[in-house]
Amino acid sequence: MIMHFAPEDFQEIIEIEKEAFSEHNSLLYMSFYEMARDGFLVAKQDGKIVGYVVGYRSAENEGHIFSVGVKEEYRGRGIGTELIYTICSIFLAKGLKYARLEVRNSNKKAQKLYKSIGFIPCWTEQKYYSDGEDGMVMKMHLHPYRLLISKQKYLKPSFSYKNSLSI
Ligand SMILES: CC(C)(COP(=O)(O)OP(=O)(O)OC[C@H]1O[C@@H](n2cnc3c(N)ncnc32)[C@H](O)[C@@H]1OP(=O)(O)O)[C@@H](O)C(=O)NCCC(=O)NCCS
Repeated sequence: MIMHFAPEDFQEIIEIEKEAFSEHNSLLYMSFYEMARDGFLVAKQDGKIVGYVVGYRSAENEGHIFSVGVKEEYRGRGIGTELIYTICSIFLAKGLKYARLEVRNSNKKAQKLYKSIGFIPCWTEQKYYSDGEDGMVMKMHLHPYRLLISKQKYLKPSFSYKNSLSI
């Protein structure tokens, strides 16, 4: 089930983020809650937070996916894909035309996932990460039919987001 982040989820999010990324900034997540809470989502299973995504409007027509992470033992079950679909649907509902994200050049697994959803590699940001690694910028044109068709193609129906999620 995908829901909006609540302050009591903070500790679990930070643990997932530490596990998923080599560089992290815990304080950023409370700022996201204060400034962009519509785009701060968590995936819950068995009463636990197992993943999160943070996205916000970064330009007039564009939503930026800042971070997505899934707890290691819950990966490969479609949760990351569902989180990305959900944030893209939220962008679309807000009238945005594009979704954008950056991904490490070495992170082939995440790149494959994004491509399967419809993101296209656009350009490389040299030394985007603090350890000097380049980042690949990927973008997707947001369209309701595209989201619907690729969602039906790739997702198992068992993991769905809460219908009452207000966007
Ligand atoms: C990238 C990340 C968020 C993906 O999350 P995830 O929940 O594992 O993603 P999914 O399960 O939706 O998809 C991953 C793979 O599982 C497969 N999968 C999806 N649903 C599945 C299911 N029900 N059963 C088995 N496999 C499944 C997908 O096809 C995909 O396979 P592939 O790698 O061969 O393409 C996660 O690996 C992660 O947190 N990584 C560390 C942080 C990170 O890299 N974040 C992205 C930074 S840009």
